[in-house]
Amino acid sequence: PIYEATASAPVNIAVIKYWGKRDTKLILPTNSSLSVTLDQDHLRSTTTSRADPSFEADRLWLNGKEDQITAGSRLETCIKEMKRLRKETVEDVDASAPKLSTYKVHIASYNNFPTAAGLASSASGFAALVASLAHLYALPASPSTLSLIARQGSGSACRSLFGGFVAWQMGSDPSGSDSLAVEVAPQSHWPQMHALICVVNDAKKGTSSTSGMQRTVETSPLLQHRIAHVVPARMADISTAILARDFDAFARITMADSNQFHAVALDTEPPIFYMNDVSRAIIALVVEYNRISLAQGKGYKAAYTYDAGPNAVIYALEENVREVAQLILSYFPQTPGEFKDVLGIFSGAAD
Ligand code: DP6
Repeated sequence: PIYEATASAPVNIAVIKYWGKRDTKLILPTNSSLSVTLDQDHLRSTTTSRADPSFEADRLWLNGKEDQITAGSRLETCIKEMKRLRKETVEDVDASAPKLSTYKVHIASYNNFPTAAGLASSASGFAALVASLAHLYALPASPSTLSLIARQGSGSACRSLFGGFVAWQMGSDPSGSDSLAVEVAPQSHWPQMHALICVVNDAKKGTSSTSGMQRTVETSPLLQHRIAHVVPARMADISTAILARDFDAFARITMADSNQFHAVALDTEPPIFYMNDVSRAIIALVVEYNRISLAQGKGYKAAYTYDAGPNAVIYALEENVREVAQLILSYFPQTPGEFKDVLGIFSGAAD
Protein backbone atom coordinates (compact mmCIF):
# COMPACT_ATOMS: atom_id res chain seq x y z
CA PRO A 1 0.00 0.00 0.00
CA ILE A 2 0.94 3.64 -0.46
CA TYR A 3 0.97 5.67 2.73
CA GLU A 4 0.46 9.29 1.76
CA ALA A 5 -1.54 12.26 3.08
CA THR A 6 -1.98 15.92 2.21
CA ALA A 7 -3.07 18.74 4.49
CA SER A 8 -2.97 22.48 4.37
CA ALA A 9 -2.90 25.21 6.97
CA PRO A 10 -3.43 28.95 6.68
CA VAL A 11 -1.41 31.82 8.04
CA ASN A 12 -2.47 33.40 11.33
CA ILE A 13 -1.98 37.04 12.27
CA ALA A 14 -1.49 37.83 15.94
CA VAL A 15 -3.39 40.63 17.63
CA ILE A 16 -1.57 40.00 20.91
CA LYS A 17 1.99 39.38 19.83
CA TYR A 18 4.29 36.53 20.81
CA TRP A 19 7.76 37.98 21.22
CA GLY A 20 10.25 36.26 23.50
CA LYS A 21 11.09 32.73 24.63
CA ARG A 22 11.76 31.38 28.10
CA ASP A 23 13.02 28.12 26.53
CA THR A 24 14.53 28.37 23.06
CA LYS A 25 14.77 24.61 22.44
CA LEU A 26 11.18 23.70 23.39
CA ILE A 27 9.95 27.10 22.13
CA LEU A 28 8.16 28.19 25.29
CA PRO A 29 7.10 31.84 25.19
CA THR A 30 7.49 34.60 27.74
CA ASN A 31 3.84 35.62 27.22
CA SER A 32 0.58 34.25 25.91
CA SER A 33 -0.62 35.45 22.51
CA LEU A 34 -3.80 35.53 20.46
CA SER A 35 -4.39 35.49 16.73
CA VAL A 36 -6.88 35.25 13.93
CA THR A 37 -6.38 32.44 11.43
CA LEU A 38 -7.05 33.61 7.90
CA ASP A 39 -9.24 31.64 5.56
CA GLN A 40 -9.46 31.32 1.78
CA ASP A 41 -6.68 30.08 -0.41
CA HIS A 42 -4.40 33.09 -0.60
CA LEU A 43 -2.01 32.56 2.27
CA ARG A 44 -1.58 28.93 3.08
CA SER A 45 0.87 26.06 3.02
CA THR A 46 -0.05 22.70 1.55
CA THR A 47 2.03 19.68 2.53
CA THR A 48 2.09 16.10 1.30
CA SER A 49 3.84 13.42 3.37
CA ARG A 50 4.63 9.88 2.33
CA ALA A 51 6.02 7.01 4.42
CA ASP A 52 7.66 4.09 2.68
CA PRO A 53 9.91 1.24 3.87
CA SER A 54 12.16 1.79 0.84
CA PHE A 55 13.02 5.40 1.77
CA GLU A 56 16.55 5.74 3.14
CA ALA A 57 16.20 9.08 4.91
CA ASP A 58 13.64 11.63 6.02
CA ARG A 59 13.66 14.34 3.33
CA LEU A 60 11.80 17.60 2.78
CA TRP A 61 11.19 19.81 -0.23
CA LEU A 62 10.01 23.39 0.19
CA ASN A 63 8.47 24.90 -2.94
CA GLY A 64 10.22 22.20 -4.96
CA LYS A 65 13.69 22.77 -3.51
CA GLU A 66 15.18 20.30 -1.07
CA ASP A 67 15.83 21.56 2.46
CA GLN A 68 18.34 19.63 4.56
CA ILE A 69 16.90 18.16 7.75
CA THR A 70 19.83 18.73 10.06
CA ALA A 71 20.38 16.97 13.38
CA GLY A 72 18.79 18.85 16.26
CA SER A 73 16.83 21.15 13.94
CA ARG A 74 13.22 22.16 14.52
CA LEU A 75 12.20 20.12 11.50
CA GLU A 76 13.86 17.01 12.83
CA THR A 77 12.21 17.56 16.23
CA CYS A 78 8.73 17.85 14.70
CA ILE A 79 9.11 14.73 12.57
CA LYS A 80 10.54 12.78 15.51
CA GLU A 81 7.72 13.90 17.81
CA MET A 82 5.08 12.94 15.25
CA LYS A 83 6.64 9.46 14.89
CA ARG A 84 6.63 9.12 18.67
CA LEU A 85 2.91 10.00 18.78
CA ARG A 86 2.22 7.45 16.04
CA LYS A 87 4.04 4.75 18.01
CA GLU A 88 2.51 5.57 21.39
CA THR A 89 -1.08 6.28 20.35
CA VAL A 90 -1.55 3.89 17.42
CA GLU A 91 1.08 1.13 17.07
CA ASP A 92 1.47 0.35 20.79
CA VAL A 93 -2.32 0.25 21.13
CA ASP A 94 -3.17 -1.79 18.03
CA ALA A 95 -0.67 -4.53 17.18
CA SER A 96 -2.11 -4.88 13.68
CA ALA A 97 -1.39 -1.23 12.76
CA PRO A 98 1.47 -0.90 10.26
CA LYS A 99 4.69 0.29 11.88
CA LEU A 100 4.79 3.57 9.99
CA SER A 101 6.81 5.18 12.77
CA THR A 102 9.78 3.05 11.66
CA TYR A 103 9.57 4.20 8.02
CA LYS A 104 11.35 7.25 6.68
CA VAL A 105 9.16 10.03 5.32
CA HIS A 106 9.36 12.27 2.28
CA ILE A 107 7.60 15.60 2.69
CA ALA A 108 6.79 18.21 0.04
CA SER A 109 5.44 21.60 1.04
CA TYR A 110 4.26 24.56 -1.01
CA ASN A 111 3.52 28.11 0.06
CA ASN A 112 1.35 30.21 -2.21
CA PHE A 113 2.99 33.43 -0.97
CA PRO A 114 6.55 34.75 -0.44
CA THR A 115 8.57 32.94 2.22
CA ALA A 116 9.95 34.88 5.19
CA ALA A 117 8.39 38.17 4.07
CA GLY A 118 7.00 38.69 7.53
CA LEU A 119 3.87 36.98 6.29
CA ALA A 120 4.21 34.14 8.79
CA SER A 121 5.17 31.39 6.35
CA SER A 122 6.76 29.36 9.13
CA ALA A 123 3.43 29.38 10.98
CA SER A 124 1.41 27.85 8.15
CA GLY A 125 4.37 25.71 7.09
CA PHE A 126 4.88 23.87 10.38
CA ALA A 127 1.13 23.65 11.01
CA ALA A 128 0.62 22.02 7.59
CA LEU A 129 3.57 19.68 8.18
CA VAL A 130 2.16 18.51 11.50
CA ALA A 131 -1.38 18.23 10.09
CA SER A 132 -0.24 16.17 7.11
CA LEU A 133 1.77 13.76 9.31
CA ALA A 134 -1.17 13.50 11.74
CA HIS A 135 -3.33 12.52 8.79
CA LEU A 136 -0.71 10.09 7.38
CA TYR A 137 -0.34 8.45 10.79
CA ALA A 138 -4.12 8.45 11.48
CA LEU A 139 -3.46 9.95 14.90
CA PRO A 140 -6.34 10.24 17.33
CA ALA A 141 -4.94 13.63 18.45
CA SER A 142 -6.80 16.89 19.09
CA PRO A 143 -5.64 20.15 17.47
CA SER A 144 -4.37 21.29 20.89
CA THR A 145 -2.21 18.15 21.18
CA LEU A 146 -0.86 18.68 17.67
CA SER A 147 -0.21 22.33 18.55
CA LEU A 148 2.34 21.14 21.17
CA ILE A 149 4.42 19.71 18.31
CA ALA A 150 3.84 22.50 15.77
CA ARG A 151 5.01 24.90 18.51
CA GLN A 152 8.41 23.22 18.46
CA GLY A 153 8.70 23.99 14.75
CA SER A 154 7.85 27.67 15.10
CA GLY A 155 6.03 29.21 18.05
CA SER A 156 3.36 30.97 16.05
CA ALA A 157 2.65 27.74 14.11
CA CYS A 158 0.79 26.27 17.08
CA ARG A 159 -2.01 28.80 16.54
CA SER A 160 -2.58 27.74 12.88
CA LEU A 161 -3.93 24.33 13.97
CA PHE A 162 -7.23 26.07 14.66
CA GLY A 163 -9.35 28.33 12.51
CA GLY A 164 -10.97 31.46 13.86
CA PHE A 165 -9.78 33.20 17.02
CA VAL A 166 -7.02 31.29 18.77
CA ALA A 167 -5.04 31.74 21.98
CA TRP A 168 -1.61 30.28 22.65
CA GLN A 169 -1.54 29.80 26.40
CA MET A 170 2.05 30.28 27.52
CA GLY A 171 1.78 27.61 30.26
CA SER A 172 4.14 27.22 33.20
CA ASP A 173 5.43 23.63 33.08
CA PRO A 174 9.13 23.45 32.12
CA SER A 175 8.33 20.42 29.90
CA GLY A 176 6.05 22.59 27.73
CA SER A 177 3.09 20.23 28.20
CA ASP A 178 0.71 23.13 28.95
CA SER A 179 2.03 25.58 26.34
CA LEU A 180 -0.58 25.00 23.65
CA ALA A 181 -3.19 26.55 21.41
CA VAL A 182 -6.87 26.68 22.31
CA GLU A 183 -9.86 27.99 20.40
CA VAL A 184 -11.29 31.26 21.70
CA ALA A 185 -14.11 31.35 19.15
CA PRO A 186 -14.66 29.76 15.76
CA GLN A 187 -14.70 31.85 12.61
CA SER A 188 -18.49 31.42 12.46
CA HIS A 189 -18.81 33.34 15.74
CA TRP A 190 -17.76 36.60 14.04
CA PRO A 191 -17.81 36.03 10.26
CA GLN A 192 -17.95 39.80 9.64
CA MET A 193 -14.29 40.08 10.69
CA HIS A 194 -11.99 40.55 7.72
CA ALA A 195 -8.27 41.03 7.34
CA LEU A 196 -6.68 43.09 4.62
CA ILE A 197 -3.07 42.19 3.84
CA CYS A 198 -1.16 45.18 2.50
CA VAL A 199 2.11 43.95 1.07
CA VAL A 200 4.48 46.87 1.46
CA ASN A 201 7.52 44.77 0.62
CA ASP A 202 7.74 41.07 -0.05
CA ALA A 203 11.53 40.79 0.18
CA LYS A 204 13.04 38.60 2.89
CA LYS A 205 13.22 40.53 6.14
CA GLY A 206 16.39 41.73 7.85
CA THR A 207 16.25 40.36 11.38
CA SER A 208 14.50 37.00 11.76
CA SER A 209 11.85 36.66 14.46
CA THR A 210 13.89 33.95 16.16
CA SER A 211 17.09 35.97 16.59
CA GLY A 212 15.28 39.28 17.06
CA MET A 213 13.12 38.12 19.95
CA GLN A 214 16.08 36.47 21.68
CA ARG A 215 17.97 39.76 21.57
CA THR A 216 14.88 41.50 22.97
CA VAL A 217 14.69 39.00 25.86
CA GLU A 218 18.35 39.62 26.65
CA THR A 219 18.35 43.40 26.44
CA SER A 220 14.92 45.06 26.67
CA PRO A 221 13.67 46.33 30.03
CA LEU A 222 10.38 47.28 28.35
CA LEU A 223 9.77 43.61 27.48
CA GLN A 224 9.83 42.73 31.19
CA HIS A 225 7.14 45.34 31.85
CA ARG A 226 5.09 44.06 28.92
CA ILE A 227 5.24 40.44 30.08
CA ALA A 228 4.36 41.16 33.71
CA HIS A 229 1.98 44.10 33.52
CA VAL A 230 0.47 44.44 30.04
CA VAL A 231 -0.18 41.17 28.21
CA PRO A 232 -2.20 39.29 30.87
CA ALA A 233 -4.93 41.97 30.99
CA ARG A 234 -4.90 42.36 27.21
CA MET A 235 -5.38 38.61 26.69
CA ALA A 236 -8.44 38.70 28.93
CA ASP A 237 -9.82 41.93 27.46
CA ILE A 238 -9.47 40.97 23.81
CA SER A 239 -11.02 37.54 24.47
CA THR A 240 -13.98 39.34 26.04
CA ALA A 241 -14.15 41.71 23.06
CA ILE A 242 -14.14 38.80 20.60
CA LEU A 243 -16.83 36.92 22.51
CA ALA A 244 -18.96 40.11 22.62
CA ARG A 245 -18.18 40.97 18.97
CA ASP A 246 -17.01 44.36 20.24
CA PHE A 247 -14.97 45.78 17.35
CA ASP A 248 -14.09 49.02 19.17
CA ALA A 249 -12.36 47.17 21.99
CA PHE A 250 -10.83 44.66 19.56
CA ALA A 251 -9.38 47.50 17.45
CA ARG A 252 -8.01 49.49 20.41
CA ILE A 253 -6.24 46.48 21.91
CA THR A 254 -4.93 45.20 18.56
CA MET A 255 -3.34 48.53 17.63
CA ALA A 256 -1.95 49.07 21.14
CA ASP A 257 -0.33 45.65 21.11
CA SER A 258 1.19 46.11 17.67
CA ASN A 259 2.60 49.43 18.86
CA GLN A 260 4.08 47.87 21.98
CA PHE A 261 5.62 44.99 20.06
CA HIS A 262 7.42 47.49 17.79
CA ALA A 263 8.37 49.50 20.85
CA VAL A 264 10.09 46.48 22.44
CA ALA A 265 11.86 45.87 19.12
CA LEU A 266 13.11 49.47 19.30
CA ASP A 267 14.01 48.94 22.97
CA THR A 268 16.31 46.08 21.95
CA GLU A 269 20.09 46.57 21.86
CA PRO A 270 20.95 47.16 19.04
CA PRO A 271 17.46 48.38 18.07
CA ILE A 272 15.35 46.48 15.55
CA PHE A 273 13.17 48.31 13.01
CA TYR A 274 10.56 46.25 11.23
CA MET A 275 8.28 48.99 9.94
CA ASN A 276 9.31 51.41 7.21
CA ASP A 277 8.03 54.83 6.12
CA VAL A 278 5.13 53.29 4.18
CA SER A 279 4.14 51.20 7.21
CA ARG A 280 4.08 54.33 9.36
CA ALA A 281 2.11 56.29 6.76
CA ILE A 282 -0.53 53.54 6.73
CA ILE A 283 -0.74 53.82 10.53
CA ALA A 284 -1.30 57.57 10.23
CA LEU A 285 -4.01 57.00 7.65
CA VAL A 286 -5.84 54.42 9.78
CA VAL A 287 -5.59 56.66 12.85
CA GLU A 288 -7.06 59.61 10.95
CA TYR A 289 -9.79 57.46 9.40
CA ASN A 290 -10.82 56.20 12.85
CA ARG A 291 -10.63 59.72 14.31
CA ILE A 292 -13.13 61.01 11.76
CA SER A 293 -15.44 58.05 12.33
CA LEU A 294 -15.30 58.51 16.11
CA ALA A 295 -15.97 62.25 15.76
CA GLN A 296 -19.12 61.33 13.83
CA GLY A 297 -20.24 59.23 16.74
CA LYS A 298 -19.49 56.00 14.93
CA GLY A 299 -16.99 53.50 16.26
CA TYR A 300 -13.59 52.35 15.07
CA LYS A 301 -13.59 51.19 11.47
CA ALA A 302 -10.14 49.65 11.11
CA ALA A 303 -7.30 48.21 13.19
CA TYR A 304 -3.74 47.86 11.92
CA THR A 305 -1.19 45.36 13.09
CA TYR A 306 2.40 44.64 11.97
CA ASP A 307 4.54 41.55 12.52
CA ALA A 308 8.30 41.29 12.07
CA GLY A 309 8.24 43.11 8.75
CA PRO A 310 6.81 46.22 7.05
CA ASN A 311 3.57 44.69 5.75
CA ALA A 312 0.33 45.95 7.24
CA VAL A 313 -2.56 43.75 8.19
CA ILE A 314 -5.75 45.72 8.67
CA TYR A 315 -8.70 44.18 10.45
CA ALA A 316 -12.09 45.62 9.53
CA LEU A 317 -15.69 44.52 9.63
CA GLU A 318 -17.27 43.37 6.39
CA GLU A 319 -19.36 46.55 6.00
CA ASN A 320 -16.19 48.70 6.00
CA VAL A 321 -13.71 46.49 4.15
CA ARG A 322 -14.30 47.94 0.70
CA GLU A 323 -13.97 51.53 1.93
CA VAL A 324 -10.77 50.72 3.84
CA ALA A 325 -9.22 48.96 0.83
CA GLN A 326 -10.11 51.86 -1.46
CA LEU A 327 -8.75 54.37 1.02
CA ILE A 328 -5.41 52.57 1.29
CA LEU A 329 -5.10 52.10 -2.46
CA SER A 330 -5.95 55.75 -3.14
CA TYR A 331 -3.07 56.92 -0.94
CA PHE A 332 -0.61 54.19 -1.86
CA PRO A 333 -0.80 53.36 -5.54
CA GLN A 334 0.84 50.12 -6.46
CA THR A 335 4.49 51.10 -6.59
CA PRO A 336 6.87 48.16 -6.99
CA GLY A 337 8.94 47.63 -3.86
CA GLU A 338 6.97 50.19 -1.97
CA PHE A 339 3.29 49.49 -1.84
CA LYS A 340 3.39 46.51 -4.10
CA ASP A 341 -0.07 45.12 -3.92
CA VAL A 342 -3.03 44.54 -1.77
CA LEU A 343 -2.69 40.80 -1.90
CA GLY A 344 -6.25 40.18 -1.05
CA ILE A 345 -9.11 40.69 1.26
CA PHE A 346 -9.38 37.77 3.58
CA SER A 347 -12.19 37.01 5.88
CA GLY A 348 -11.11 36.51 9.40
CA ALA A 349 -10.75 32.82 9.94
CA ALA A 350 -10.04 29.35 8.68
CA ASP A 351 -11.93 26.33 7.47
C1 DP6 B 1 5.96 38.97 15.34
O1 DP6 B 1 6.77 32.15 15.49
O2 DP6 B 1 8.18 33.21 13.68
O3 DP6 B 1 4.86 37.22 14.17
O4 DP6 B 1 9.08 30.71 17.38
O5 DP6 B 1 11.25 31.67 16.69
O6 DP6 B 1 9.82 30.52 15.01
P1 DP6 B 1 9.85 31.35 16.28
O7 DP6 B 1 9.19 32.75 15.94
P2 DP6 B 1 7.86 33.10 15.13
O8 DP6 B 1 7.54 34.55 15.71
C2 DP6 B 1 6.38 35.26 15.35
C3 DP6 B 1 6.45 36.63 15.90
C4 DP6 B 1 5.36 37.58 15.45
C5 DP6 B 1 4.23 37.66 16.47
C6 DP6 B 1 3.25 36.52 16.49
O9 DP6 B 1 2.99 35.87 15.46
O10 DP6 B 1 2.67 36.32 17.58
